[in-house]
Amino acid sequence: MQMECKARLNSGSLSAPCNTNSGGEPKHQPPRLHMPAMVKEVIEYLGCSRKPDGVFVDMTVGTGGHAEAILRAAPNATLIGIDRDEASLEVASERLAEFSGRVVLIHGDMRDVQRLLRLCGIESVDGCLIDPGMSLWQVDQERGFSFRIPAELDMRYDRAQKLTAKDIVNSVSFEELVNMLKAAGERRKKARAIAQAVVEARAKNPIETTEQLAAIIAEAIKPKGWQRIHPATKAFMALRIAVNEEADALEQGIRAALHVLRVGGRIVVLTYQSIEDRIVKRLFEAYSQLTPTNLPSPFPPLPMVSGAVRVRVLTPKPLRPSRHEIKINRCARGCKLRAAERVDDGVQPSCSQ
Ligand SMILES: C[S@@+](CC[C@H](N)C(=O)[O-])C[C@H]1O[C@@H](n2cnc3c(N)ncnc32)[C@H](O)[C@@H]1O
Repeated sequence: MQMECKARLNSGSLSAPCNTNSGGEPKHQPPRLHMPAMVKEVIEYLGCSRKPDGVFVDMTVGTGGHAEAILRAAPNATLIGIDRDEASLEVASERLAEFSGRVVLIHGDMRDVQRLLRLCGIESVDGCLIDPGMSLWQVDQERGFSFRIPAELDMRYDRAQKLTAKDIVNSVSFEELVNMLKAAGERRKKARAIAQAVVEARAKNPIETTEQLAAIIAEAIKPKGWQRIHPATKAFMALRIAVNEEADALEQGIRAALHVLRVGGRIVVLTYQSIEDRIVKRLFEAYSQLTPTNLPSPFPPLPMVSGAVRVRVLTPKPLRPSRHEIKINRCARGCKLRAAERVDDGVQPSCSQ
């Protein structure tokens, strides 16, 4: 399949290049462009200089910050950029326009990376990058991601998906709400107080907007004195993670990536939550064993890892951004980077797993 600059695949079919930003910009302020985290380390661990003409997949390309850096660092490389958010892809398409002929952007889910690459005629790649979650650019859209921006409670990365944050808030049980909140790091007592307030509020009227939900939470857990973060921060994060199945996507995305890497190819994963970092650590450890194994962990046991894929962990401890980077990019402050290299196991990667 032909690969051209600004060519885009929409869930599988090649579409016309896009030039416009139709991201639905909020009226109050122009959306900020996402500032990518740990760019130097991403480039180094992906091995861009070792593979100047390699094939790299940015499995969560967003508005294209890391992708641009990869294309600059590997001057003859091809970059496949995948994202669930079509509006972000439009921004990335503009941003990467100068790398004519070396970029394909695909609207899709990282869990489908094998199928999506196969559509481009690609069986295996030199590097995979996963930088999951939400970009700053998305926060600034009127799509319900932020309690600071009045909007419908939506929070879908992929607007073709049916389930929204509004559906979850108004339908799941008290216990499910508590579990969702605890999984996102909320303390048990606060999680129960928020869940109780939500259940009571929705019994009177459906909860439909970011303002409504933020007010319900702020009332339920009135902060004593000054608080570093808004009381609704973790609840909004919990909802976003649930709407977009982020934990599952990360686990399945990493597994799929390992199967498309060639021997010597590398995977780099950035995470911002300890729950995400544990998923990465645990998968890398499991795939680095000679005999597939399940490691002790707070998560349900892994389905048996494939004996045909093995990696060498390149970061026994996760790398963190420097103080200087955190100073200029606050969004990077919780970032952890882990990387691994696929090693020879006698079996070549194949798109059919
Ligand atoms: C932190 S941003 C990536 C920013 C990007 N690295 C950059 O430099 O601009 C995360 C992106 O992942 C996308 N995303 C989230 N879940 C996804 C999934 N399952 N498959 C593909 N993309 C996903 C989001 O839409 C968002 O654009």
